[in-house]
Amino acid sequence: MNNCWFHKAKLGIFIHYGIYAVNGIGESWSFYNGTISYEDYMKQLDGFYADKFHVSAWGDLIERSGAKYAVLTAKHHDGVALFDTRFSDLSVVKKTPAKRDIVKEYAEEMKKRGIHLGFYYSLIDWSHKDYASVYAAGKVPDNPKEINPFTSPVDGKEDPEKWRRFLDFNNNQLRELLTNYGKVDLLWFDGDWERSAGQWGLPGFKDYLKSLNPDLIINSRLQGYGDYKTPEQGIPITRPEGDWEFCTTINGSWGYQPRDNQYKSLSQILRIFCDCISMGGNMLLDIGPRQDGTIDSRQEAILSGLGSWIREHEEAVYQTDEGIGTCYYLGGSTISADRETLYLFVYDNPKESICLKGLCNLIKKITVLHSGKELPHEIHGGVPWFEIPGTTWIRLTADDCHDLVTVVKVELEGKIKMYGSSGEAVTHNET
Ligand code: GLC
Repeated sequence: MNNCWFHKAKLGIFIHYGIYAVNGIGESWSFYNGTISYEDYMKQLDGFYADKFHVSAWGDLIERSGAKYAVLTAKHHDGVALFDTRFSDLSVVKKTPAKRDIVKEYAEEMKKRGIHLGFYYSLIDWSHKDYASVYAAGKVPDNPKEINPFTSPVDGKEDPEKWRRFLDFNNNQLRELLTNYGKVDLLWFDGDWERSAGQWGLPGFKDYLKSLNPDLIINSRLQGYGDYKTPEQGIPITRPEGDWEFCTTINGSWGYQPRDNQYKSLSQILRIFCDCISMGGNMLLDIGPRQDGTIDSRQEAILSGLGSWIREHEEAVYQTDEGIGTCYYLGGSTISADRETLYLFVYDNPKESICLKGLCNLIKKITVLHSGKELPHEIHGGVPWFEIPGTTWIRLTADDCHDLVTVVKVELEGKIKMYGSSGEAVTHNET
């Protein structure tokens, strides 16, 4: 997907908005895991007013963050649709005092601002009467106590007819989402783990979605049939294969939980972002609006701060490819689309210089991206007649650094070429 908008977008904003914000409890999982009864969980429907929900405020913030796409929870595992669906009464339109099609307002706003439109859709629906009709991969657990009644029948008997009806229901809702709200760019599935690929009707199910929109991008939570991987909460240490996106919360919660004050700092979030793009991935950063539609000022501050940094360093972010890796440079990096510029991310203040190993190209110029200041460099070692490059030392001190991450722009003669071998004895000398 290298030429696709998704690869170049780098930052997306995830929005977990739902009735769980009324009590400020875990989205869907709180009743599934028994911390609240299903009935009490659903009482939150009565407290969902969305009375301060101004979609332009969301749009402003998302645009300010520098994100190029957004993904809103159109329906979480609790089955409560944020959109007006003909196929169920369980929606914020029909069952809450808000009586608004949140998805519609959001979709229009994203389109207006040129932000790619994404919907999160849970394949799981723990409220649907036909959902708990089969077992994961058809296997009945040996111990009936392991069966969660929201997921599977408790009597050990499958009902394939009900399951068929449930799949039709998902297909119908997805058709609504893909055809009633303009062109959707991305579908973000979740919950595939409760059924096998065969039970989800794959690959036919994917073909069906693509028949409604051939350009649709689908995340990988589709039992191996999606377009890109979605590591979650723990940053990948080795690069995931192919396209990928790291989804993360700002504190520890997806939805709004006022008691969760464990916020990551702006510089931590930015560091995570730089690590993602350095390894060729995107970051999908989550916000959890309050029930009324407003957003906690701490979440707003992170998004705004991230956006200011991105705007100052745009050319090192969008349109770039993954960098050279930490064996060459102890930090993050990206490479321009023409492969003639290398951007080095400097996370800490260096004492004297930063060190770049294995670069084969001649260097045209080195500058600090945010200030334009030109930096001197020295090259030591190397055996040009063996094509073994020396080590480049770029003089950079704390005074040259940005408050957050500093970007050093290295302009090269020709397309970047890195030396990747383990060196060798120099069996003849030319000096
Ligand atoms: C997990 C959870 C879910 C959350 C999602 C976001 O899969 O089931 O609550 O929405 O992660 O990535």
